[in-house]
Amino acid sequence: MVIVRLLFSMILVMLFGTSVVAQNKYVGAKFCSTCHKAGKGGESYKVWEASAHAKAFEVLKGDEAKKIAKAKGMSTPPHESEACLKCHVAGGGTAKNIEKTFKMEEGVTCEVCHGAASGYKILHSKGDLEKSKAAGLVEGDKTGKLCKTCHNEESPTFKEFKFEEMWAKIAHGLPEKK
Ligand code: HEC
Ligand code: HEC
Ligand code: HEC
Ligand code: HEC
Repeated sequence: MVIVRLLFSMILVMLFGTSVVAQNKYVGAKFCSTCHKAGKGGESYKVWEASAHAKAFEVLKGDEAKKIAKAKGMSTPPHESEACLKCHVAGGGTAKNIEKTFKMEEGVTCEVCHGAASGYKILHSKGDLEKSKAAGLVEGDKTGKLCKTCHNEESPTFKEFKFEEMWAKIAHGLPEKK
């Protein structure tokens, strides 16, 4: 009995476990744009493209970023420094699990909140949402918990984080639900 149960749980882990998901690679935001600009997939890409998240890498090259770096006595420019990239790009600037299409320059992408996509991108294109989720597609966390992994005191420009107000600025979804 014990062995049967053990085998069964191993199969569950293989099918749905984090072990599968952890191997997923980042594919970049362009991939999502094909279907999430209009129509059945909604306009999420357009909302994201116009949001601060899409400029989160660029902003590290600006004057304000340079000022912060100077005040901290940093020797590496912000857009090359892990201390800044960790919250300003998907994968934190050190990710090895990336496909050729991934570009750090895209900033805080869909995959930060919906999971690295290599495992679910094919399934997903076929519209199989349940299998996609098992392979790492994350629906999106509206508790604010994920947001606060970056929107917190460690951010040099942090003031406060109110989920409802901040979500309103980037609100997106499927056409019928939005
Ligand atoms: C080939 C087309 C296609 C591509 C590429 C695509 N999607 Fe989708 N996606 C869809 C469609 C269509 C739906 C809506 C499915 C439905 O209504 O049943 C959807 C739904 C979703 C959902 C909602 C899932 C849910 O549980 O309701 C999320 C989140 C999502 N996509 C994220 C992404 C991300 C992130 C990418 C890029 C890595 C991406 N998609 C790429 C077609 C696509
Ligand atoms: C803990 C995550 C985190 C780290 C580390 C981080 N940032 Fe940010 N950064 C954020 C978030 C979240 C925002 C947007 C909201 C805010 O200001 O808190 C932001 C916004 C910014 C802005 C734009 C502010 C504006 O007014 O538009 C600049 C510039 C910036 N960060 C520079 C830096 C630099 C330079 C570093 C490295 C020294 C850095 N950040 C490290 C999370 C972080
Ligand atoms: C990987 C880190 C990260 C996560 C996770 C994250 N953000 Fe951000 N967010 C940033 C950074 C960095 C900026 C600043 C980018 C810039 O100024 O160009 C930012 C900026 C913003 C802004 C624009 C700032 C403003 O005051 O207008 C909004 C709104 C926002 N985030 C909402 C959210 C919400 C809502 C969530 C969770 C659903 C979230 N963010 C999750 C890193 C993150
Ligand atoms: C900062 C985090 C964040 C980023 C970046 C982000 N999303 Fe989302 N997304 C969410 C949250 C949170 C929800 C709300 C889930 C819900 O309603 O329960 C959501 C919802 C969605 C939905 C609808 C899910 C549903 O069940 O109705 C789709 C589709 C989607 N996002 C696609 C995208 C695409 C494509 C991108 C990039 C172009 C993107 N998202 C970028 C956090 C994010």
